[in-house]
Formats: sequence, structure tokens, C-alpha cells
Amino acid sequence: MIDITFIQPDGSQKTVAAKAGHTIMETAQAHGIDGVIAECGGSMACATCHVFLDDIALTAAGPASDSEDDMLEFAATPRADNSRLSCQVTVTDALNGAQITIPETQF
Ligand code: FES
Repeated sequence: MIDITFIQPDGSQKTVAAKAGHTIMETAQAHGIDGVIAECGGSMACATCHVFLDDIALTAAGPASDSEDDMLEFAATPRADNSRLSCQVTVTDALNGAQITIPETQF
């Protein structure tokens, strides 16, 4: 079991059981998490799947690719050091217990 907690901008939280091999974006959408729009469907062309990772998730995810890093510049909510595109982070056992924060807006 890989438990991931999504935190909304208002502080409300929902913990879901994620499946290894899915992305964080797919996990959020499969569980009805608001605020992960993912307009491009995961092809790294929209930045509407922007999220903020906690330390567990950052360690598990590893560094962003140059392409992801470039796309994060287009995120509606200004990026931070812990910003990632959730469609580019694959769920592994190392993500168990991670907290993913949704930005204020994706548009
Ligand atoms: S879903 Fe579009 S960049 Fe992630």
C-alpha cells in the first residue's frame, strides 16, 4: 500500500491508496482530487498538473528533467523549489506517506 495525502490550498486533506507505476497526476484524477487539471493528459504541454512535493516525495521523485523544468515556468501559481509537474512523477513505494500540496490555481 502506498498512501499519498493531497492537501488543498484551504488545508483540507485526503489520503488515497496509490498504485505503483501510475503518476501522481493519474492518482489524483483516479481519486477525484480537485485542482489537478492535467489539461494535456500528461504530455508535459500544459503545466496544469503543477503540485508542491514534501521532502518524502522530493526524495522519491528525483530531479525534474530539463523539459519539465522549462514547463514549470508556465505554471499559473508561481513555482517554488519543491514544484513538480505531477504527470512526470511516477508512484513508487518510496512515495508512501508523502504529502502533495495543490496550488491555488492552475489557470
Ligand atoms: S498534464 Fe499537462 S503538463 Fe502535466
